[in-house]
Amino acid sequence: MNDNVVLVGFMGAGKSSVGRILARRLGRCFVETDDMIVAREGASIPEIFATKGEAYFRAAEDEAVKLLALKHGDVIATGGGLPCREGRPAALRALGTVVWLSGDLDVLYRRALGAGARPMLAGRSRDDIEALYRSREPFYAQADLTVDTTGLGPDQVAARVLQSLRSHEQNASARTAR
Ligand code: S3P
Repeated sequence: MNDNVVLVGFMGAGKSSVGRILARRLGRCFVETDDMIVAREGASIPEIFATKGEAYFRAAEDEAVKLLALKHGDVIATGGGLPCREGRPAALRALGTVVWLSGDLDVLYRRALGAGARPMLAGRSRDDIEALYRSREPFYAQADLTVDTTGLGPDQVAARVLQSLRSHEQNASARTAR
């Protein structure tokens, strides 16, 4: 059964911190696609971008998605660009329930700038980032559920995700009982 919870969203949405909290609350394992790539490559994400380039990183994401098929019952946080390719949203939905952590772009941008080295932000203006965000939104929007993170901390977001997952499950079982 493909019963993972898959978190998607732009950089700064809090996928890692919320994912960790969710996994703890649900008693599940937590997996990050970025960590899978770092472990496989033996290099950090900024190092991979710097030495091998973005295309190489995206190919590594393809491999990570294939490996995710082996995961069951896990909470999975994806890199911000991973869902944004043709066919990818459907591939992620096949793994379980996909949750988009959405939010106000300026808040996401500020958070992303403040936390850790993010190669996709390097050398890009605020307008470039907005264009990137707009090009990605239609992919994120194909998630099963959306939780708006604006103004909320990771614990509060995790609580909202749990709530939406529960009502999603209830609706699904009501549909099958009909
Ligand atoms: C990326 C987001 C990063 C990481 C890589 C590329 C992107 O993950 O996968 O730097 O293209 O948006 P986070 O969303 O966790 O920052």
